[in-house]
Order: sequence, then structure tokens, then C-alpha cells
Amino acid sequence: MPTSISPAIPLYQPPGRSDGDMNPTYFSGPSTAFLKPYQEMGPVFRTRIFGQEQVALGGVEANRFVWGNNDLWDYHTSNRMFREQFSDRYLNQLDGAEYQHKRRRVNQGFKPSMLASHAGSMAEVLHREIAKLPEGRTELRLFCMRAVIKMTSQVLLQTDLPDGMDTTMAISNKEMLRASSLGWKRWLWYQYPPKRFRRWKIFKFLGQVIDERDANPQAKNNDDILSLILQAITPEERASMPRHELIHDLSQLFMAGSTTSSMIICWALLQSLADESWLGELRTELAPWDAANLTGMANFPRLKATGLETERMRPGVPVFNRTCGKDFEFEGHAVKAGTPVLHLHTLAHFLEECYEDPLVFRPQRFMENPDLPDRWVHGTYGGGAHQCVGQPLARLQPAIAIAEILRNYDLEFDEKPSLEERYDSVTAPREKALMVRFVKRS
Ligand code: HEM
Repeated sequence: MPTSISPAIPLYQPPGRSDGDMNPTYFSGPSTAFLKPYQEMGPVFRTRIFGQEQVALGGVEANRFVWGNNDLWDYHTSNRMFREQFSDRYLNQLDGAEYQHKRRRVNQGFKPSMLASHAGSMAEVLHREIAKLPEGRTELRLFCMRAVIKMTSQVLLQTDLPDGMDTTMAISNKEMLRASSLGWKRWLWYQYPPKRFRRWKIFKFLGQVIDERDANPQAKNNDDILSLILQAITPEERASMPRHELIHDLSQLFMAGSTTSSMIICWALLQSLADESWLGELRTELAPWDAANLTGMANFPRLKATGLETERMRPGVPVFNRTCGKDFEFEGHAVKAGTPVLHLHTLAHFLEECYEDPLVFRPQRFMENPDLPDRWVHGTYGGGAHQCVGQPLARLQPAIAIAEILRNYDLEFDEKPSLEERYDSVTAPREKALMVRFVKRS
């Protein structure tokens, strides 16, 4: 596709790739793939990735610029992959007043006190899932994805999912996210029959959930995410809202964390288990842990720091595709409206000027300096108007899972995890399968 990118912006050529393609580097090490290009080229350069040439913007000043200038970005185009797979009412591809209105409604669903009141039931469902594992054995990544979906069901609907729905949702969400790295080939991907069948199954189930709520609106005492969001919709809005819009919204809330939050759990377990001294401290801190009476993280600074350090080192979505809706200038470079921009929003996590020894897993840094993380450095949840709406849940759910698992189980891996990463819809462990056995601690 022709772009209007100025040739004055320098092109980064990865070593050994005369075609300039960054895909191999990114797919084999997403979190730090753009560190070297940034060090060599500065905060603005051209790059070829995901099937097109883009202007990469990275570093703390780029974060300030991108997140501080909401009206520059055309989300309708940036997030078209979501519209193509859902509809033109899907939250993250809306812009302007329509977006703000819908976003305000969805925000209502994430009240921290309501979320925390479900911590006990989220912990219970996690233990039920572990108890069901044959001989305690499972593949860790898929297990974490399924666990997050089951936990989400408690806080979103206060309901257990039908058998197999967790796996269907986990796979379907990964399939949905894959579209953004396929370029034009995504149109073929959308037709893949098993992908279509999984979506049909999920939407059918979610349609039933909505019909049941409509038939009995007081059933859940307005004490879950769905109830709070439904409450924020006026009867007039509801009357004109297509049924599929609510189904898609619900599916977004179900699945948004299944790939990302699940990876925070997975990486936090891997990193903590690999560091005996930290693991010991964490387990001592967790002795009085009781999810059913959780009021906050104040008594669990190590647990909180583990989550933050994992978000820093293994951000689920390390770079973000955007399209600018207007011409702009950054660091002396002019960029024309319509240009694809690759915002390296988590690059600053790995800069020496932001963190000492940035490539080392050291959660203590967040306990030693209470001013961390800095809002312009920590990009895990994005920023600006579209910053992740699920962040309150994304901080709570992994904390519960990490605490419950490390406090109550030892994890025996078939093979020692490498702790290396690769890109597989999100920042995932390098191993295709991480077989593990959950062993109850005495
Ligand atoms: C560790 C877990 C998570 C990570 C790393 C993450 C990351 C992100 C990022 C990077 C964005 C885009 C922000 C931007 O445009 O600048 C986003 C948006 C969003 N996230 Fe999350 N997310 C996580 C968990 C969740 C959860 C648990 C939910 C809901 C249950 C959720 C729901 C959403 C929604 C609805 C949006 C679109 C927001 C909008 O466009 O207004 N996320 N997330």
C-alpha cells in the first residue's frame, strides 16, 4: 500500500535484512525488539513491520506526545481490525463524541470496590480449575487464559461458564488479535471456518446471557460489571441499540484480559519461581492472604511489585498501531495525515534513564521508589483517551491468581522454562507448550 511517509525520516534496516523487514526480530523478542533501532536512530524512524511501512515513535517524549494529543489519532482506521471482526459500534474503533459517550458507560462497570468484592469467588473458581486438572498437570499458558476467563465470569456475570466455553473464548481471542499482524491476508483469516464457528458459539451464549438479564433485571443485585454497564444505558438508548452491540461488548470484556492478564499471571509465576529469594519473601508476605476479605494491596507490597515488574518487563502489547488523522510534527519530522504510526509505547520500560538495570527482573525497584511507575514511562495499558478501561480489573485479577497459586502450590515443570519470549498475539513464553504440575504445598 503506498504511504505518504517522508523519505527524510530515516529507515531502520535490521542487520542481515536487505528488505528492512522487522517482523522476524519482533516475533522472536517483542518487548525489546525496538530498543536497538531507538538507540541507533533516535525517537523517530521508518520501519517495515506487519506488512507495511510505518513511522515508529518511541521513548518518554513520544509517549507524552502521543497520549497528550488525543485528537491527532484516527481510531476508526487504527482499530479497523476490530470493526472488521465485530461492528462499527465496537468501543476501541470509535472516535469523538460517540466514543466518549460509550466510554463513560463502560467505565461504570469497573468500580474498584465492586471488583474487590468478587475477589473471594475469583479465588474459588481458580482453585476449582486447578482441582480439575488430571494429576495436577496442564499447559501453563492455556491454563492461565482459561483461569482468567473463568475468573472474569464471576465478576462480569456472577455465573459459571458452560463446559468448554473458557477454552473456546481463549482460542477465539487469540485468533481475533492475530489479524493485526497479518496485513491484507487477514481477509483470508476472517473466513477460516473453525474461527467462525468459535465466534458463533460464543455470541450465541452471550446472547442468552443478555436475554436472561433482560427477563430478570434485578437478578444479580446490580453487583457485577454487566449490571453496572446495563444500568448506565438509558431506556431510549437501549431501544435503539442493536442486539449484536451488547453481545460484542460483552465478548470484548470477557476476552480482553484473556490474552493479556493471563500473560501477567504466567510471567509473574515464571519469574518469581526462578528467583528463590524473591519467592521466599513473597510467600512469607502471603501467609495472611485471604482473598475473601481483600480490601486492597496495602498489606501486600511484594505482590503489587511483582505485578508491576511483570507489566514492565513483559508488556502484553509492546507496540501499538495507530493512524494519524491530521498532519503533525514531532522532533523536527513532519508526518502527513493518514500515515501509519507505530507507537513504541512500552519502549521506555527498557531505557537506562528510566530504570536501573532495565533488563533484570527486580520487583524491589517498585518498593524502593514509591513514585514508580511514572505515568509517561509505564505504557502497559496504553494512554490518552483510549487507555485500557479494564485496568482496575487487570491489576486485581492477576494479583489474586499469583497469590493463590504461589501461596498454595509448588509448580513442577517438565522442562525448566527458558524465560525467553516470542510474539504470539501477545508477549508469550518462547516455549510452544509449558507443561507443569500443580503440587499442593503442605
Ligand atoms: C494485563 C492486562 C491488560 C493489558 C496489558 C491491556 C492493555 C490494553 C491496551 C494497550 C489498550 C489500548 C490503549 C490505547 O489505545 O492506548 C487497551 C484497551 C482496552 N482494554 Fe485492556 N488490557 C488489559 C486488560 C484488560 C481487561 C481485563 C479488560 C476488560 C475486562 C480490558 C478491556 C479493554 C478495553 C475495552 C479497551 C479499549 C478501550 C478504549 O478504546 O476506550 N483490558 N488495553
